[in-house]
Amino acid sequence: MIVGVAHLAKRLHGRFVVFDGPDGAGKSSQHRRLEASLRDAGIDLVSCHDPGGTAIGERIRAVLLDHDLSAMDVNCETMLFMASRAQLVAEVIRPALAAKKTVLCDRFITSTCAYQGAAGYDPKRVIELARYALGDLWPDITIVLDVDTELGFSRIGRKPRQAEKNRRSKVTPTLIPGIEPDAMEARSLDFHRRVRKLFQEVGSYYPTPVVLVDAAGDEETVFQRIVTELDRVLD
Ligand code: TYD
Repeated sequence: MIVGVAHLAKRLHGRFVVFDGPDGAGKSSQHRRLEASLRDAGIDLVSCHDPGGTAIGERIRAVLLDHDLSAMDVNCETMLFMASRAQLVAEVIRPALAAKKTVLCDRFITSTCAYQGAAGYDPKRVIELARYALGDLWPDITIVLDVDTELGFSRIGRKPRQAEKNRRSKVTPTLIPGIEPDAMEARSLDFHRRVRKLFQEVGSYYPTPVVLVDAAGDEETVFQRIVTELDRVLD
């Protein structure tokens, strides 16, 4: 059954929706699809991405992703992702919600639980940190697109490293010539498998609803799964 979004548009008015998931899950395409459908339905919305999304956040993002992260302490890494997000919340998300706009965001706190969790930071402490740093602003719903780690990387044309011992290797794992992995993508396959598992678990302790959506299949099929979940969770 094909489900449209028109019946959802009203319920999404003024809500905060996050798309998240491992690399290559297809969240940006799904985000764009929902955004286009909601704009067609006349919804006033703000679209953003984390990390970055503000001038200050883009500078923090460059510190995080344009450099090898192997020398960065995980506490520093976690605080920097949270700092970029604090700016995004203050400058973009909170004002948009106050103006009763719908906010769609690519990645949010759930990414820190999964990625920095996989790097050794306690994911439950990420929640405490977020309460403090962001003033208890949580999404109404977080859609986590779940994808097999190797399938995800083949979709984006990059390869994670095979083992931690290769982490400092200068050899760039790439499937498509000319496309270089960022610092996070350059981490090992084991790291990215832990990321996926932490994404699968985050709903059990996250303060607001997290729905896990199977991201296997074509874009339209996955979109219909997302619409079904939004319909189920939002009142
Ligand atoms: P980005 O270029 O935004 O790509 P995409 O979201 O399309 O994967 O990459 C952001 C990278 O940063 C991504 O690998 C996930 C990682 N990340 C964290 O490690 N922690 C975080 O809190 C966030 C928001 C992202």
